[in-house]
Amino acid sequence: MNQPPAVTTPPLWNLLQWIIQPLDFLERCTARYGDCFSLKLGNVATFNLFSDPQAIEQIFTASPTQFDSGRANGILRRMLGDNSLLLLDGQRHKRHRQLLMPPFHGERMRAYSELICQITEATTQAWQPNQTFVARPAMQEISLQVILQAVFGLTEGARYEELKRRLKVMLEFTSSRFTFATNFFPILQRDLGEWSPGGRFIRLIQSIDELLYAEIADRRQQFDPNRSDILTLLLSARDEAGEPMSDLELRDELMTLLVAGHETTATALSWALYWIHSLPDVKAKLVEELDSLGAEPDLNAIAKLPYLNAVCCETLRIYPVGFIAQIRIAQTPCEVGGYPFKRDSLLIPAIYLTHHRPDLYPEPNQFRPERFLERQYTPYEFLPFGGSNRRCIGAAFALFEMKLVLATVLRRCDLALAESCPVAPVRRGVTIAPNSGIRLKLISKRSEVAPSLETATA
Ligand code: HEM
Repeated sequence: MNQPPAVTTPPLWNLLQWIIQPLDFLERCTARYGDCFSLKLGNVATFNLFSDPQAIEQIFTASPTQFDSGRANGILRRMLGDNSLLLLDGQRHKRHRQLLMPPFHGERMRAYSELICQITEATTQAWQPNQTFVARPAMQEISLQVILQAVFGLTEGARYEELKRRLKVMLEFTSSRFTFATNFFPILQRDLGEWSPGGRFIRLIQSIDELLYAEIADRRQQFDPNRSDILTLLLSARDEAGEPMSDLELRDELMTLLVAGHETTATALSWALYWIHSLPDVKAKLVEELDSLGAEPDLNAIAKLPYLNAVCCETLRIYPVGFIAQIRIAQTPCEVGGYPFKRDSLLIPAIYLTHHRPDLYPEPNQFRPERFLERQYTPYEFLPFGGSNRRCIGAAFALFEMKLVLATVLRRCDLALAESCPVAPVRRGVTIAPNSGIRLKLISKRSEVAPSLETATA
C-alpha cells in the first residue's frame, strides 16, 4: 500500500517553519500534498498530519489503547511534572481524567458563572472613555483570576497575589517563540546558572511549587468540604479503588489546569474581541441579541444564545488556539485515511487545516458566524478542542467563560478597534495568537442600556 506523500523540503527548514510560521507552512503543504502528508522536523520526529474528517474520525473513534499521547508530550514535563494529565497514558490517564472531569461540567461549572461576570465587570470598570487599552493582557488578567479562583478558591491575600505574579512570569516565559524553540535544543534547557534560560525557568517553577505545596498543605489541614473550588473536590476525590490523590499528583494537576486553562481562553477571547470589533455587522447582531435578554438576564440564557455561540465557534474555527491536536503514537500497526502506519508512527489531527477546508467552510478565511447557524458540523469537521479520550477537559468551561466574558464586556462597553495595522496570527508557545495584543478604544460605557449582570442575578 502507498505511504502518505512526504514533504520534500529539508527537515531543518521544516523545523524552522514549524516554529516561526506554522500556519502558512501547513497551508502550503496541504496545497501541494493534500489531506494527509508526512513531515520531517529536523532530526526530532516525522509527523503524519490529517485534515480529512473521515481520517480524523478513524483516529478519534479508535480504541483508547490504540494511541498514546502522554509520552509524546515530554517537552511539558519540566513544567507540569510526571503526573500531569497531559503526560499520562493508559490506566493512569483514565484515572486522572475521571478525577478531574466533574468540576468542569454541569451544575458545578455553572456555579462559577457569577464569579466570571464579577471578575469581568471589575476589569471593565478600569477602562475610561476615549482611552485605548490592549485586549490580551486584560483577557489574561480575567482568565487567570477565573482559573485561580475556580481551581483554588483563592480570591485575595499575599499567597494569591504572589502566585498570580509568578504564574504570569512563567506563562510569559513559556509563550515566547524562543522558549518554544529551546524544546528542540535540550542544551538550552539545562541549568547553566540563574541567568541561563534553563536555570531561570527551573528556579521559577521551584518558586511556584513552594506556593502550591503550601496551599495544598493548608487545605489538607483545614479541610472544608463546603467549598466549591476544584482543589477541594480533588482533595476529597477517590478513584475506583478508593485511593485519594497524593500531594505530587495534586501539584502536577493543579499546574496543568492553570497552564492549559489560562492562556488558551485569554487568546480565544482576544481573537473574539478582534473579530467582533472589526466587523460592524457582527457586532450589531451580537449586541442586539444580548440586549434582547432584557435588563435582568439569566446567565444560563446567555450561554444558550445562538448568535453568541456562533461567534465563539467561528472564532475557534478560523484561528483555533491549538492549531493541531496532541500527537497520537500508534501502539500497534493501523490504517488511517487509507494509509498503513507502523507501530510508533506519529499521527496528528491538523485542526487548523480541517477548519480551512473550502468544501466544509466556503471562503474559509472569511469570519462568518452564520455558517454555524446554517449547518451542524460533526466532531471530526469542527474540532477546536480535539477529540477522543484526549479531548480538552476544559472545553465546556472555556466556551461558557468566553460567552459570559463577551456578554459582560459588550453589555457594559461600547468599544472600537484601535489597531493601525492588520492583525495576523503568530505562534505564542503552543498556541496561535494575534501578533498585536489587539488595541481597543472605549467609546462609552453602556451602564444605562444594560444593568450590571451581577445586580441582575443578585
Ligand atoms: C478556548 C480555550 C481552550 C482551547 C481552544 C483548548 C484546546 C485544547 C486542545 C486542542 C486539546 C488537545 C485535545 C486532543 O489532543 O484531542 C486540549 C487538551 C487539554 N485541555 Fe484544553 N483548551 C482550552 C481551554 C482549556 C481549559 C479552560 C482547561 C482547564 C481548566 C483545559 C485543559 C486541558 C487539558 C487538561 C487537556 C489535556 C487532556 C488530555 O490529554 O486528556 N483546556 N485543549
